[in-house]
Amino acid sequence: MKNTVLTFKQAKEKGEKLSMLTAYDYSTARLIDESGVNSILVGDSLGNVILGYEDTISVTMEDMIHHSAAVARGAQNALVICDMPFMSYQTSVYDAVVNAGRLMKEGRANAVKLEGGKEVCPQIKAIVDAGIPVCGHLGLTPQSINAFGGFKVQAKTEAAAKKLIADAKAVEAAGAFAVVLECVPAKLAELVTKELSIPTIGIGAGNVCDGQVLVYQDMLGMFTDFTPKFVKRFENIGEVMKRAFSAYDEEVKAGTFPDKEHEYTISDDVLEKLY
Ligand code: KIV
Repeated sequence: MKNTVLTFKQAKEKGEKLSMLTAYDYSTARLIDESGVNSILVGDSLGNVILGYEDTISVTMEDMIHHSAAVARGAQNALVICDMPFMSYQTSVYDAVVNAGRLMKEGRANAVKLEGGKEVCPQIKAIVDAGIPVCGHLGLTPQSINAFGGFKVQAKTEAAAKKLIADAKAVEAAGAFAVVLECVPAKLAELVTKELSIPTIGIGAGNVCDGQVLVYQDMLGMFTDFTPKFVKRFENIGEVMKRAFSAYDEEVKAGTFPDKEHEYTISDDVLEKLY
């Protein structure tokens, strides 16, 4: 059954946990979809794990649309949420609505996600008013990495924690259907989760959040440039892939691949006529 924003609402009401993973292509989206995960986030983390940038700043609308459309073709049941890239919504309410619309029309997303608190609430409200579900994102918001001065745990002081709570309430009041909390102390995430009637989706925010999200390459050991403390490696697929690539390399160079089993045949009659 297709997960929708109603699934999120009902899960919060019933106290059921929500699962979310990132994906950026059709075949991975299909695997995640078939495993029962509620939602697929086409994160702008694709800048890091797919495109090899050191941050998400350079990711474009075209990048997001391209990958979202591929994911949407593979997701029958999971709710597809597409990140709005840096400067696609901060510039104006008009830009925000136009670009959210493109992610829905061209990227075939079911919802969009954008980073920030009170300062982006006019954008959230306008996008929601246009009929597009919005997921918020607070705490460590990677598009503001230059303002933060690095990837660090957020909201540890009293003032910053109070601001996070106020931002979460503002994002909810603006109409967001869920909010991602990234890299915030677990006890603070618990407080926010209790204060809100929309689900909180944690990443480095403890296990009291209403749901969890991870970048799939992180949880499978496929991306090792940097590994935050909150990442749990569920399998080491990166090592399995490297072993398979080496075995392929060796067999090609030894002339043992392809063998008879992987060849196509032609009848001897036809072959004779070629000589
Ligand atoms: O871009 C992304 O993958 C994200 C998650 C880390 C929440 O925003």
